[in-house]
Amino acid sequence: MITLLFALLAAPAAAAPSLNADVETQVQDLLSRMTMDEKLGQLQQLDGLADGTARPEQAELARKGLLGSVLNVRGAANVNALQREAVEHSRLKIPILFGFDVIHGYRTVFPIPLALASSWDPALVKDAARTAAVEAEAAGVRWTFSPMVDIARDPRWGRVAEGAGEDPYLGSVMARAWVRGYQGGDPSQPGRVAACAKHWVGYGAAEGGRDYNTTEISERTLREIYFPPFKAAVDAGVLTFMSAFNDLDGEPASANAFTLTQVLRGEWKFPGFVVSDYKAVDELISHGVAADGADAARLALTSGVDMEMVSRDYASNLPALIQAGKVPASAVDEAVRRVLRVKFLLGLFDRPYADQSRESIALFSAENRAAARRAAARSLVLLKNDGNVLPFSKALKSVAVIGPLADDRAATLGSWTGDGRAADARTVLDGVRAALPRAAVVVSTGGAIGALSDLDISSAAAAARAADAVVLVLGEMADMTGEASGRSTLDLPGRQLELARAALSAGKPTAVVLLGGRPLALGALLNAAPAVLEAWQPGTQGGDAVADALFGDANPGGKLTMTFPRSVGQIPIYYNHKNGGRPASDKYYSSKYIDGPWTPQFPFGWGLSYTTFTVSGLAVDPVSISAGGRSDVRVYVANDGARAGDEVVQLYLRRRTADVTRPVAELKGFRRVSLKPGEDARVDFTLGPKELGFLDRDMKFAVEPGDYDITVGTSSVGGLSARLTVAP
Ligand code: NOJ
Repeated sequence: MITLLFALLAAPAAAAPSLNADVETQVQDLLSRMTMDEKLGQLQQLDGLADGTARPEQAELARKGLLGSVLNVRGAANVNALQREAVEHSRLKIPILFGFDVIHGYRTVFPIPLALASSWDPALVKDAARTAAVEAEAAGVRWTFSPMVDIARDPRWGRVAEGAGEDPYLGSVMARAWVRGYQGGDPSQPGRVAACAKHWVGYGAAEGGRDYNTTEISERTLREIYFPPFKAAVDAGVLTFMSAFNDLDGEPASANAFTLTQVLRGEWKFPGFVVSDYKAVDELISHGVAADGADAARLALTSGVDMEMVSRDYASNLPALIQAGKVPASAVDEAVRRVLRVKFLLGLFDRPYADQSRESIALFSAENRAAARRAAARSLVLLKNDGNVLPFSKALKSVAVIGPLADDRAATLGSWTGDGRAADARTVLDGVRAALPRAAVVVSTGGAIGALSDLDISSAAAAARAADAVVLVLGEMADMTGEASGRSTLDLPGRQLELARAALSAGKPTAVVLLGGRPLALGALLNAAPAVLEAWQPGTQGGDAVADALFGDANPGGKLTMTFPRSVGQIPIYYNHKNGGRPASDKYYSSKYIDGPWTPQFPFGWGLSYTTFTVSGLAVDPVSISAGGRSDVRVYVANDGARAGDEVVQLYLRRRTADVTRPVAELKGFRRVSLKPGEDARVDFTLGPKELGFLDRDMKFAVEPGDYDITVGTSSVGGLSARLTVAP
């Protein structure tokens, strides 16, 4: 028997970047010698060119000490060339901070963040971030605009691909893992980069799932659902935040003194700096809260945005605004202080240049590719496997690989591919060929998703008839998720369902591999196909990882971190909803639909395996505690199938009665366990004030006396239950 002790309380948080006296003295000294223009230069971030080089104007600005940061300039030689202008030619020699969107890998592309979250394996996420940091830093990038820790309850929103899904607890665990993986204990060390928690805040609640759209979120929901992953990032020492594009309850997130100053600096004591999202300062004009650039600069700076990305309202307007007494000079000083502090903490003054000799060794190494393959395999979620169609035998003589995404390298990588190259991606077709070198692989990819013809569909059926087994690779192309890629339907795009039905009509053992960046409404496909494997956008080595699972070298053990709806009309649909006065049921006057089920297609936490598990022996000790007390929860999980595999044991709490309504379930602990056939393990959780408390009617965090239902199981539905009482 393996004993797994798992304390629910996260390991003690790494010290947030506390004010280091030495650093503060250096910052103050530098600040006291800066002109207003030089100060505003530190608050300016400009965009380089797509090929990683700087624009000519930027060298000029750097030389004058008027450029604090750039984004997209990358590659050791490009970075060093621009850095030299600042460090060797500017008056105060303040180094430039080079930022880049390293979202799921720099050159070696890992699975998208939503996939990595589906691994329910924070150590894996931390390692992926660490690998990304090593590669990025070798290429001169010292700051990544990651992690995106926006909670997302609407799969129409294309950016769900970039986050950890719908749950604040899981989102917090993952946020911490990303930050620790990027920054380590000391972000000034080689192989480390500054992280950026984004998009502060509420961006994922965009109305209608349309990117950049308005949001309306109550303070309670902000604090209980949207804030926690950001707070976890602060506790893990994240050095920067990015202010979001969205309008939040009438105050744009990039001009929101409540979130940027009262909460972030006042309540959470965040010492790092906030960068606006791309031109978000200037977009305050479009939001209608600023009349012009001067107004936008005044609002953003005084609300708490320190650095302006790409638009130039600060540099153009702040001198006059200060002169006119409309913005206090101290507000500029404070923003500059925060930016310089991060530059010192990152060790930029001591080590401003990239080591050009290391770059080619660090990027896309065999070790990094192996890590990406393992991460992809651990991110797979098996949605359906009737009759144990999967895994396929490796003795198959012929396999048909069908579908427009089967050999689509870009779709294998997904959006935000850093400096990754589509040509490097291993597709599912590559993976199948490598796994079965002696089998005949019949290929029928057809045209692009939007252009599948009758001939493509009949060819797919013919290919399926000619083979012993069929792998259908369906889903979304790379540009169907990510920024600005909202969808109003969640069906398989184009004629893919028809294609699938044609291939399935051959009656061969068939598995669907789904590639994409969001939950889809899969009902029709699930009715037709016996096995469906959600592979997400699995990254550079994705095709090999998928093949590992298709042929049994890996056993899928991931679980969904976003609910899969049956139809778009069910959105928003998420597991931690309120009960309501008339909860959904078959009764007429209940919270249901008249034209379809209210339940999701797949709930949060769902995922199958090639083996089976049983959870038993739930025990809570003690069953009654005082408000400050703790209780231990113990459970056993056994692999009672015939293959080694992983199960994710999940603990949910429900507070039946409180002075405010509570969700029907809240995840408060989980553990991914690997077990051989016949093996079992004990999993322990601890519940204390952090898990049991919630915001009371006065928005104060407190543990109220009363009863909690504890449910431990393998998804957010079902499981074993016990009761814990907090005595008055
Ligand atoms: C806009 C995106 O919203 C943000 O996530 C990204 O970091 C910036 N552009 C910079 O590319």
